Amino acid sequence: MKQAIYPGSFDPITMGHLNIIMRSSKIFEKIIVAVLRNPQKQPMFTLEERVEMIRHSIEGIPNIEVESFSGLLVKFLEQKKASIIIKGLRAISDFDFEFQMALMNRKLDSEIETIFLMTEDRYAFLSSSKVKEIYLLGGNAKGLVPDYVELCLRKKSGNQPEFLAGQDVEKE
Ligand code: PNS
Repeated sequence: MKQAIYPGSFDPITMGHLNIIMRSSKIFEKIIVAVLRNPQKQPMFTLEERVEMIRHSIEGIPNIEVESFSGLLVKFLEQKKASIIIKGLRAISDFDFEFQMALMNRKLDSEIETIFLMTEDRYAFLSSSKVKEIYLLGGNAKGLVPDYVELCLRKKSGNQPEFLAGQDVEKE
């Protein structure tokens, strides 16, 4: 099968995202991971850092490319001559938003199909925003993000490498 686009903010990429990328790379000939440059959001990582972390995480997998885009996703698909969007679904709570986006994208371009892959249950609770919160509060999310991303999170948040969540809670 042809190429598909996997869009997102990836601030930062998590093991949940990586799992969707790996699985979709077995279904499609080529996956383009499309990182959104969104001037309305204040990301923790710059666009360049987000792209770099993804490239690092997918090293050695031949049929995956990483690019950035701004503006409408359908325009990016048009530019890439692609018609398939891949999205991951974690829970019912994702459904409303994803349903709306999928229908809106198809309204904008009737050739576009959005294909949903269910998350693996071990990542059902995982999100970039939770991971960032953990690091900003001095915790550790080892195993939930690729090792390199873990390092970047520690560096960005000024977090101590040895720290394990909950270990330094003062006993009252
Ligand atoms: O990882 P995210 O932040 O949930 O990803 C959301 C993303 C990037 C897929 C979505 O915000 C998007 O496609 N933005 C581009 C603008 C667009 O095309 N919007 C849809 C029309 S309303």
